[in-house]
Amino acid sequence: MEKTAGQQLIESRRTIRMFTEGALDTSELYSLLTSAHHAPFHNKVEPWNVYLFNGDGKDVLLQALEPAFADGPESKREKISGRIRNAAACVYVTTKAFETEKDRKDALLATATFIQNFHLLCSERDIGLVWRTGGIFEDARLQEMIGAEGETFVGLLQLGRFEDVPPLKRRQSIDSCLTIFE
Ligand SMILES: Cc1cc2nc3c(=O)[nH]c(=O)nc-3n(C[C@H](O)[C@H](O)[C@H](O)COP(=O)(O)O)c2cc1C
Repeated sequence: MEKTAGQQLIESRRTIRMFTEGALDTSELYSLLTSAHHAPFHNKVEPWNVYLFNGDGKDVLLQALEPAFADGPESKREKISGRIRNAAACVYVTTKAFETEKDRKDALLATATFIQNFHLLCSERDIGLVWRTGGIFEDARLQEMIGAEGETFVGLLQLGRFEDVPPLKRRQSIDSCLTIFE
């Protein structure tokens, strides 16, 4: 069976961690985020909040990380800020606050689909992306400084143009996790 464009997009998507020079247009990212926003959700409102730091806007993120950097070793500041500077843009994704465990779980799951939508759309346009989940990004002082207080951190997406694609990791066959009843 010939693979559809959707299948090919999903199968060719990769995590890109090293970026080349090259700015990204805020308008292009806005358009991709608008499409990603069509992700499924099970709350009354779209459960995700998205904070885009593009180009010089990344300085705001770096400043917001400063209190957490100051608490840790210099090497951590260098590693994390180096990665942020290497990326053309960063997208900080959270879920809004929900009262029940069920709503929080649904919000988290839906937000993961939003991120996957965005990753696929970036991939289609040759924009590299890595989804990072390091604990430092959960820092309450950072969240307060960017206006995300009380929200649940889901991912910092680092984006940029790229040349090298990491070697393909071997994936287990779907047969290792699929049970069919027919
Ligand atoms: C929930 C989640 C959290 C992740 N966190 C990180 C991270 O903190 N740092 C990182 O380098 N990659 C992170 N990744 C990317 C994975 O390492 C990557 O998806 C995996 O190695 C498979 O590679 P692929 O995306 O190219 O198929 C994360 C991915 C997911 C889905």
